[in-house]
Amino acid sequence: MSVGIEEIAFYTPALSLDMVALAKARDEEPDKYTIGIGQTTQSVVPNYEDVVTMGVNAAKNFIDRVDRESIDMLLFATESGVDNSKSGAIFAKNFLGLKDGIRAIELKQACYAGTFALMQAKDFVTLHPDKKVLVIASDIARYGLKTPGEVTQGAGAVAMLVSTEPKLAVINDDTVYMVKDEPDFWRPIDSDIALVDGHQSTDVYKDMFLELWGRYKQESGLSLNDFAGWAFHMPYTKMAKKALDQILPEASEEGQALLKERLAASQYYNRHVGNLYTGSLYLSLLSLLDQSTGLVAGDRLGLFSFGSGAEAELFSLTLQEGFEKVLSKQATEAMLAARKPLSMSEYEAVFLDQRFDSKNTQKTDAPAGTGRCQFTGWQDQYRQYRIAK
Ligand code: CAA
Repeated sequence: MSVGIEEIAFYTPALSLDMVALAKARDEEPDKYTIGIGQTTQSVVPNYEDVVTMGVNAAKNFIDRVDRESIDMLLFATESGVDNSKSGAIFAKNFLGLKDGIRAIELKQACYAGTFALMQAKDFVTLHPDKKVLVIASDIARYGLKTPGEVTQGAGAVAMLVSTEPKLAVINDDTVYMVKDEPDFWRPIDSDIALVDGHQSTDVYKDMFLELWGRYKQESGLSLNDFAGWAFHMPYTKMAKKALDQILPEASEEGQALLKERLAASQYYNRHVGNLYTGSLYLSLLSLLDQSTGLVAGDRLGLFSFGSGAEAELFSLTLQEGFEKVLSKQATEAMLAARKPLSMSEYEAVFLDQRFDSKNTQKTDAPAGTGRCQFTGWQDQYRQYRIAK
């Protein structure tokens, strides 16, 4: 019996910011942002989106194709949760019309929790082969105006259905993981922006990748030539290149050229969306699948997951016959192209005009008739939503 990903879908908010405009406004060389860091545009979050709306809007892309009765668990991974007590999974369970006889929980460990959720889903389905698990990884990367991290902001959600019908890919039994206590990135309870030592974080990421790759090779007996491509956690696209460059010489000349080409494919969506923390690796996977040429059933893809603080995991997927039918490249590209580009002053106004304060009863700017799930404001300090139709 094989367990893996049956469905996958992505959602990002409908506003964007051009990184050349940001660089100019911050007195930086545009090439630093677009080449040195490797970001072209970033999604910007209006005050009527949050991790719940984005997660629901991602899962909405496939949920009506699935027998909801078969979904026995909802794992909601985020480090930008909307409440310190109530799980975003419960809002999402309701808005997606899932049954009451379900387990639903929110998981947090920086950008790593989506992978923990995926692995828990795999283990659960292995024990209960007639059941399915919905995994949602949803986040808002928010570092603040005029901070070094500003160029690496972004937002979005990836939803995945895990089952014994892995139409996209099987999750192989080869995972290796590790934890090290590192002060590289955190967000105090009273702060709506992340605090980060970006250079230290990059070093921890590279070191953990190298250590896990060494263990992976030893335990699996595989080598770099066994991989058709890689997807990475990608706070900024250059970071993935830094990781892969460390091991690239282990591949044949032909293999190196192919892995570089596929790295560019795996960076494409992330370059245009920015960081979505726990969903970032799975956006990179979608990007690799949508933007590569020549991937075939049976190909093994490497995945490197990283969450500051720090926890990392390295594992592989094997593509299944007909995997391309699960993908919706045109819809994803159309969603990115349809985002409204903001001027710098519009972006700064949207960034500051959020509704974090529950104490004032206030509405958001949610436009009517979009068909999307939206956060509409606060009532008696309780979040109000418009459910997607
Ligand atoms: N043309 C081309 N390249 C240029 C350039 C130019 N004109 N000017 C500079 N560059 C290059 C630099 O050489 C450098 O390249 P290398 O890294 O290859 O050496 C690159 O541009 C960046 O330059 P700096 O290091 O000087 O930039 P910076 O000090 O502004 O920091 C950053 C960049 C570390 C990414 C910063 O934006 C940051 O801190 N971002 C947020 C944190 C982040 O994303 N951390 C990563 C992991 S954290 C995470 O993922 C979160 C989680 O788990 C929750």
